[in-house]
Order: sequence, then C-alpha cells, then structure tokens
Amino acid sequence: MHSVETFRDLQGEVTEWRRYLHQYPELGYQVHSTARFVTKKLASFGIDHIETGIAETGIVAVIQGERGDGPTIGLRADMDALPILEASNKPWSSQIPGKMHACGHDGHTAMLLGAAKYLANTRNFKGSVALIFQPAEEDGCGGQRMVQEGIMDRFSISRVFAMHNRPGMEVGKFGICDGPIAAALDEFDIVVKGRGGHAAGPHQTIDPIVIAAQIIVGLQTLVSRNTDPTESLVISVTKLNAGTAYNIIPESAELSGTARTLLSSLRDFAERQIEACAQGIARAFGAEIEFRYRRLEPLMLNHTEETNLAIKAARGLVEAAAVDDKSKPSMGSEDFAYMLEARPGAYIRIGNGPTASVHHPAYDFNDEALPYGIGYWVNLVETALAA
Ligand code: NI
Repeated sequence: MHSVETFRDLQGEVTEWRRYLHQYPELGYQVHSTARFVTKKLASFGIDHIETGIAETGIVAVIQGERGDGPTIGLRADMDALPILEASNKPWSSQIPGKMHACGHDGHTAMLLGAAKYLANTRNFKGSVALIFQPAEEDGCGGQRMVQEGIMDRFSISRVFAMHNRPGMEVGKFGICDGPIAAALDEFDIVVKGRGGHAAGPHQTIDPIVIAAQIIVGLQTLVSRNTDPTESLVISVTKLNAGTAYNIIPESAELSGTARTLLSSLRDFAERQIEACAQGIARAFGAEIEFRYRRLEPLMLNHTEETNLAIKAARGLVEAAAVDDKSKPSMGSEDFAYMLEARPGAYIRIGNGPTASVHHPAYDFNDEALPYGIGYWVNLVETALAA
C-alpha cells in the first residue's frame, strides 16, 4: 500500500494533461479528440491491448499484471463535458465557447491515465486491469451503452469501480457508503387538457392553469404526507408552460419534472401516484390529462465487499479519519449505476476542496487532488489483485 507521496512525481505531468483536456471540452458521444488523446497516452505507456470506438467513442484498455493469473477488475473514468460558457478565468479555460468541463471529467480522465502510466510501469498485481473511458455520462447513456455492447463479458471484468470529485470536501479526503449512494432518476410530463376561452368568462372555460397549479401542490404532498419521512423521495416540477396572452385562458397547460429516490419501492410508488394525483385533480375540475413517465437511470448501489476494498485502498493512502465510510448518498444520479447493475463494485467520492460546485460556470477541477486519485486507483488494484 502506497502513501500519497509515491504519486507526487506524477503530479506535474498529469496536471498538464488535465489542463490540456480542460481547454478542449467535448459533449456526449462526440468526445473524438479526447478519446484520441487518451488512446495516444495509453499506447505511449506500453499498453498494447486498447480497444476504441465502443459506444462510439469509448475506450477499454487492458494492463496485465506480472504476479500471475487472476481476475480482471474495471476502473471507469468519464470523458464528456457540459454545454456551459466557462467563467473560471483560469489560464487553461475552455477554448470552445459554450462548452466546458464543469463536472471535472477532465480530472477523472487524467487521474485514470496517471494510474495507467504507473500500473503499466510496475505491474505489481495478478490478473488484469481494464481501464474504461466512457463518453456521454452527463446525458446518462454512455455507461449503459458500453455495458450493452458487452464490455463486461468481452473483457472478463469481474468487479468495477469509479470515482467522482466532490467540491466542498477537502482535498485528500474520500467519502463512500455501502448500499445506495446515488438516486434513481425518472422524468415525467403532464399535459392538462381543459377548455380555453375569454379571460373575462372563466365559468365558460376549464382553466388548465389553475388545475396545473393544484397538481403542483398535490405532488408535493405525495412526498410530505404519503412517503415515510425516514425514506428519500424528491419530486420537483421544473417546467410549466401555458398561455399566450393576458386575456386568453388557454386550452392546455404542460408541466414536467423529475422524481428521484434511493429505494426502488418508492420508484414504483412515484410512477403510480404522480399519475393518480394529477388524474384525480384534473377530473375533479372536469379536465383530462396526458401522462408520460420515463425511468432514466437506475439506483446506484455500492456492494459491500467492494466498498470495503475501496475503503481499505483509500485508508492505505491517507489517514483513516480522512475516509468517511458513512458518507451520505446523493439525490443526484450517475450512469455508473448501469455498470454496478452488471457487476459488483463501488463508487467513491474524492475531495475537490473549496471550488465552485459541479455544473457551475466558475467550477474547475482541483489539480491538488490528482495524486490522491491516482494513488487510490493504484492501491485499489494492488489490494484487489494482490498476489
Ligand atoms: Ni460528473
């Protein structure tokens, strides 16, 4: 097990890679030049088994250990950026207006590359490591597609791990928990179909705006009055569209939103009850609804054995107290959840210091965190694949 000092030598070089990636952010599956950069680096480390073009622009590279036969573990980094105009004022700010690495995926990619360089040089483990670089984490499909395209079977991956930076957590600290660590994510649309007319004659109309307003309030009571207060469900109405003029009551109103939960039973409840609540309120006032509900990302569940491995690897790197093993789950979602559905594994958070929050125009990945991330990956591999 190595302390973080082992990885300080790599920090300068990996910082350069990170800042280069930061300047050229790409979105979704269109991470072509990022993938080329990653592939070139991997080849320069002497890694000869590199497969590109998985889920369009994803990469899997395999490093074989020199301590004998053993299983393969997967380490995942995400490569995509966000459609945000950067306002970090850093010298390495985005060169592409309207696109920005505002979630630190540049840092995640650079850390996995740093670990790849170290592991390819030392190979002090049995079995193999599969480095997974995925596109399209932000829109939630890249991880799923890589699983659908068979990477787990094709590369015989038996366990899979991922890491994400967390602003507000000190650099050098880690956070993880067993069980649910990020929420399931669903979206819904409700169209309230009333009867339009003159604003001066409301009695001759069925006003969809008033009904939509009642539905919004009704949905909040599903959380506050129908959900066990010790269990987590968030229902947020995030879009409301209706009307064209001051003196017209419109025919219809549309509202959309998101439901997130840490329990699959609450997911079924949300889907059923959001519709029933909207339907019931609309009918009470003589309107009808159209309802659509989409399950987007699964609940992200850390597995016990792999969570313990992750804790051990992090505690080898930094003092035990710097690794919070009861970190609170987040109500955000993460498409690494699809990989954790396919194989046991664990997702850990790494401190990014007092930076702006992720998805904020002033955010920047903290390069001081790089040796911690690289060291975590190396310790994890040498622990999980100890000879
Ligand atoms: Ni992210």
